[in-house]
Amino acid sequence: MALEPAVSKQDTHFVDVFSMVIGLLVAIAVVLFALARIVAGQTQDQEVYTEPQYLAAVEQRIEPFSREAIAGQNNAALAIVETNPTASAGNALPIPKNGRETFEQVCSACHGQGIAGAPKAGDAAAWGPRIAEGKPTLYQHALNGFQSEGHVMPAKGGRPDIPDPVIRQAVDYMVGLVKH
Ligand code: HEC
Repeated sequence: MALEPAVSKQDTHFVDVFSMVIGLLVAIAVVLFALARIVAGQTQDQEVYTEPQYLAAVEQRIEPFSREAIAGQNNAALAIVETNPTASAGNALPIPKNGRETFEQVCSACHGQGIAGAPKAGDAAAWGPRIAEGKPTLYQHALNGFQSEGHVMPAKGGRPDIPDPVIRQAVDYMVGLVKH
């Protein structure tokens, strides 16, 4: 009986075909990748470089950190403009002028529906014990913030730019909503 060779003909044939298939797949992948780059280079990449928003963002990132006033030139662009500290650039929130406006713009976010443990505006049961503490305490808590039982009333409702008297008016307004 003749001995079978260590590597049969069939095995060699299998390795050959297998390598060829793998090689072909790699070649197809490389071609597809190259094709994708060529197509992107002619469309997508160019659109990116002509996109005004993209260009503006790049301009902003590479802007120099400091600007210098130059004698004899118009330096108006360097004037320091006061912006609202809580608002993001170019989106300054208007400062409310009275209690009602403050309530509607700021306080009602939590107090309108009684969110996050805030006493709901107009809810006598929620406000009764607080009103009993006296207005000065309520003002103090609204201005400087207050917390109990894990609920947080942020100082000025999170709007440090609103003047104190307007915050007091907002407290008066909310307390007023209860009595009616
Ligand atoms: C982010 C949510 C939130 C906003 C916005 C908010 N409050 Fe409050 N407020 C709370 C919570 C929560 C409490 C309850 C705190 C507690 O009892 O621990 C509270 C409690 C109060 C109290 C009662 C304090 C006391 O002594 O019992 C007053 C007064 C008050 N807020 C006024 C205001 C005013 C005025 C504004 C708007 C300028 C405002 N709040 C905006 C969450 C908020």
